[in-house]
Amino acid sequence: MKFRSSAWFGPKDKAGFIHRSWMKNQGLPDHLFDGRPVIGICNTWSELTPCNAHFRKLADHVKRGVYEAGGFPLEFPVMSLGESLMRPTAMLFRNLVSMDVEESIRANPIDGVVLLAGCDKTTPALLMGAASCDLPAIMVSGGPMLNGKFRGQDIGSGTDVWRFSEDVRCGAMSECDFLEAEDCMNRSAGHCMTMGTASTMASVVEALGIGLPMNAAIPAVDSHRYTLAHEAGRRAVEMVHEDLRLSKILTCKAFENAIRVVGAIGGSTNAVIHLLAIAGRVGVCLTLDDWDRLGRDVPCLVNLMPAGKYLMEDFYYAGGVPAVMRELGHLIHREALTVNGRTLGENISDAPCHNRDVIRPFSEPLMPDGGIAVLHGNLCPNGAVIKPSAATPALMNHRGRAVMFGSIEDMHSRIDDPDLEVDESCILVLKNCGPRGYPGMPEVGNMPLPSKLLKKGITDMVRISDARMSGTAYGTVVLHVAPEAAAGGLLALVQDGDMIELDVDNRRLHLDVPVSEIERRRAAWKAPAPSSERGYYRLYHDHVMQADRGADFDFLVGASGAVVDRESH
Ligand code: FES
Repeated sequence: MKFRSSAWFGPKDKAGFIHRSWMKNQGLPDHLFDGRPVIGICNTWSELTPCNAHFRKLADHVKRGVYEAGGFPLEFPVMSLGESLMRPTAMLFRNLVSMDVEESIRANPIDGVVLLAGCDKTTPALLMGAASCDLPAIMVSGGPMLNGKFRGQDIGSGTDVWRFSEDVRCGAMSECDFLEAEDCMNRSAGHCMTMGTASTMASVVEALGIGLPMNAAIPAVDSHRYTLAHEAGRRAVEMVHEDLRLSKILTCKAFENAIRVVGAIGGSTNAVIHLLAIAGRVGVCLTLDDWDRLGRDVPCLVNLMPAGKYLMEDFYYAGGVPAVMRELGHLIHREALTVNGRTLGENISDAPCHNRDVIRPFSEPLMPDGGIAVLHGNLCPNGAVIKPSAATPALMNHRGRAVMFGSIEDMHSRIDDPDLEVDESCILVLKNCGPRGYPGMPEVGNMPLPSKLLKKGITDMVRISDARMSGTAYGTVVLHVAPEAAAGGLLALVQDGDMIELDVDNRRLHLDVPVSEIERRRAAWKAPAPSSERGYYRLYHDHVMQADRGADFDFLVGASGAVVDRESH
């Protein structure tokens, strides 16, 4: 069987000379160019992405597996996206990385690819890019950090930062203790160890069947993580021989399985956007409303922060995603194919659970409603989402007076103003934080509560925005309002004092303002100018789609395959 790479390395002519000879400057012996499968290892390693900083070692273990199975591994870098450092938000660059991945794979002599991802956006970016090329591909997640430990207690990355910072603002925690906690939270290599976006997306990788069983939960520093990487390298070679392409795995059933798993693990709302974008690359017709339909009967089974109390290390010891999927029983499409060549049903049929407090039985869930609720109404005709498992039940049906912030800077400057006219029955509204407006749709939707209310002991309020929120966050937070304010959605026209109705049971979000008044405001509204006239920001502004379309670029939807006919020499 002749593989794609033989078009580069096979010919005995001038071009073949050039392709092989320059590679040999790395000490690669001639026999590696004999037509064996070339496995690209797509690496998001970067010291600026602390969650992925151990990936060189992970890649070395993938290489061992590739060599062992008779393949030829070649590691290549793509832009890395670190959630904790990048401004204005890592999400702005997810689509850029997906283009980097797609074009790097297509332009090079690669027959199959192992995708190394960890920090939030690296996972969807690599999947989107690889899906648009559609070669055999397997993902290895970097694994979560060990549990944070502060004064003998487990603390979770993200979730406890939000909690501690609110405690400092209301005087319940000293700055000294706060800074001590900073040293104790992130103790090892790996990504956030709560069920935030990174852990959710690593679980999605497993549920989609594009990672090996236990891909999500094994801690980054556990030797089993490196065993899994080794096995993935071996398997990538076999997948090339079997022509097991991504499109054979990323089917409609795989996406439905992933949506149900996100519900069962109490996963991040960010998974909604990313799965819509990935589906768009493989031609699977997934809509925002599918999330509501498929999630309604899924209970939250996994007792992890932010919905529960444990962390990913505990999840691993309890049995991880296979145990959860087994517990979901008939809700899972068991015939879906996975990268190890077996069906999902075969992978999970004997999956044990070792701790029933961490992974609850279906009959005794942590919460009855684990899915993502999709809202509609005049304020979000194309949809908005809320995570019921992270919200306050008493606020899920609420009518309140809007306290409006026109930008993130406006919110920061006024939220703690003692004269801000706000009480706990109000609804905080944040505009211009969507894909186009920020740009990049940052994780600011879970805006802080006014400190004067925190001091009164208020712990939650209804908040509405066109932003996202961190998967580690919690609260009665309506997100991803579409269309966003900067695209002329009704959100742009909300003013202080307007009454807003949230009714999660009936999936409704309504701005209670007369139509004549809305029309008056509409006539006076002007679309904000792009934040930059040039470069990637401008490309993003002009082509990003709304949240209900996964915030992908309009011109990236679909796949182009891996064929490049034209030679370079
Ligand atoms: Fe990288 Fe949380 S900051 S996963």
